[in-house]
Amino acid sequence: MNTAIIGLGNIGSRLAKNLVTGGETIIVAAKTPDEAEETARDLGSRAEAMTVEDAIAKADVIILAIYFDAIKQFLVAHREALAGKIIVDPSNPIAPDGKGGFRKIIPDDQSSGVLISQLLPHRARLVKAFGTLGAESLGAAANRSPQRAVLFYAADDTQAGEVVARLIDASGFSPVRVGGIDQSIRIEVGGDLHEYGKLGKLVSAEEAASLV
Ligand SMILES: NC(=O)c1ccc[n+]([C@@H]2O[C@H](COP(=O)([O-])OP(=O)(O)OC[C@H]3O[C@@H](n4cnc5c(N)ncnc54)[C@H](OP(=O)(O)O)[C@@H]3O)[C@@H](O)[C@H]2O)c1
Repeated sequence: MNTAIIGLGNIGSRLAKNLVTGGETIIVAAKTPDEAEETARDLGSRAEAMTVEDAIAKADVIILAIYFDAIKQFLVAHREALAGKIIVDPSNPIAPDGKGGFRKIIPDDQSSGVLISQLLPHRARLVKAFGTLGAESLGAAANRSPQRAVLFYAADDTQAGEVVARLIDASGFSPVRVGGIDQSIRIEVGGDLHEYGKLGKLVSAEEAASLV
């Protein structure tokens, strides 16, 4: 399975580092080839820079480390090329509120996971993952000891979920499935299992067992 990370900002760059540290070989892609090449150089021989188009063509698992609105546009723009792929969505449907905070940009009872699942290309499978912690924690808490921190994920397709659970493990966290994509709201900002939601902290797999 080839894994590509598209978008190399706060989340994409940290996730790329965590995966490479865990021994994964990855493809990285950004808006410009220069940005992807610079990131790949910093990551070393386990990372290869590609254009977005080549990354989609080569990868089986495509992690869209970009904002919710950009993901929606991306799924439309690359619809045919994304057919049959495992698409990973870390998004939180929020935007700056102009007062130094953030506001949810979709109705309170909706999740970006479900909305994105309605836009999936033919035979593509969606896994909601890598968005349950803030970027700082995603970087700092990888391979935490003595007990690893959990990254929750949601997936309707068991096999796609297992593929991403293995990546979560390789990236230095414990994977815990919350259920299908309809449970995404629980692991997005404001949800009961999000660092910036009712949970408000990192938890171990043991602690997560009673929460899920
Ligand atoms: N930051 C967090 O703490 C956090 C925590 C959990 C989940 N998330 C989620 O993770 C996702 C990424 O957030 P982030 O904070 O990493 O955002 P970010 O720092 O803005 O990084 C996103 C990067 O992707 C680039 N990009 C946008 N559209 C692209 C495209 N079509 N192809 C290639 N690259 C593209 C952006 O370029 P431009 O800047 O030029 O547009 C930017 O460099 C979001 O969905 C967010 O909700 C973030």
